[in-house]
Amino acid sequence: MSRYAYVNGRYLPFRDAKVHIEDRGYQFSDGVYEVCEVRGSRLIDERRHFERLQRSLTEIRIAPPMSVRALGIVLREVVRLNRIGYGIVYVQITRGVARRDHAFPPPQTLPSIVVTARSLNMARNKALAEKGIAVISVPDNRWGRVDIKTIGLLPNVLARQEAIERGARDAWFVDKDGKVTEASSANAWIVTAGGVLVTRRADHAILRGITRTVVFDAIKAKGLSVEERAFTLEEAYRAREAFITSASQIVLPVVTIDGQAVGDGKPGPVATALRREYYRYTEAS
Ligand code: PDD
Repeated sequence: MSRYAYVNGRYLPFRDAKVHIEDRGYQFSDGVYEVCEVRGSRLIDERRHFERLQRSLTEIRIAPPMSVRALGIVLREVVRLNRIGYGIVYVQITRGVARRDHAFPPPQTLPSIVVTARSLNMARNKALAEKGIAVISVPDNRWGRVDIKTIGLLPNVLARQEAIERGARDAWFVDKDGKVTEASSANAWIVTAGGVLVTRRADHAILRGITRTVVFDAIKAKGLSVEERAFTLEEAYRAREAFITSASQIVLPVVTIDGQAVGDGKPGPVATALRREYYRYTEAS
């Protein structure tokens, strides 16, 4: 089946979907993005993803190139053209095409927008969640504003690659105080020996995940105890459970950290329940 993408006002076959070599996204990673889950051909938590996109744009001072309503129409059209039942839709907005210069381009420069979508394999994701994943820890060497969802992801790319080369699936970033910040493209959680869920407070050191927000709603509804605070790697090694959350993987159990089994080394009941009940707390549109 041929794939389609939206590029600056046009729906194009994938092979023709191109941006200029002087796009500031290409040259400076000067842009932001969002990834939204598609399920039953509907967008999951579109409103919250658009709110975060708006915030990211404001933080890096790019004027929104189209209304939220229009962007919603584009996302749906890309999902429809690609016949996505279950998958993800990706939107990227950069500061546009201009002669290479670090300072902002002339004000009339139009931001570039690209939207793509692809299917995910539901059976494979389910099997992965039933098995759980291995993670390694790596020093968090990112910039100080990772709360902005920018396309500048080199430390995340290197961390993920290192994880794979060391036989793991993902990496957890650890700050200079020995505290876990987040995973390479997901938020990090533990369940302590006392049964308390812990995840880092959403300051400038992590991305405030939409999945994380939804999981908080699920936790509150279930009456579980939760603490929003930083936790050390040692605390994570001793945890009863660990998991990560992101739009593409929802709630994914972590069964080893740096080769050490978490709890009994199997996906735990809390993560499993949160994954099972996740869609009760989302908005589909
Ligand atoms: N990543 N932290 C980082 C660094 C991320 O890149 C992501 C999402 C998250 C979780 O955010 P959310 O729950 O809103 O997906 C946390 C997306 C999925 C990606 O880069 O593909």
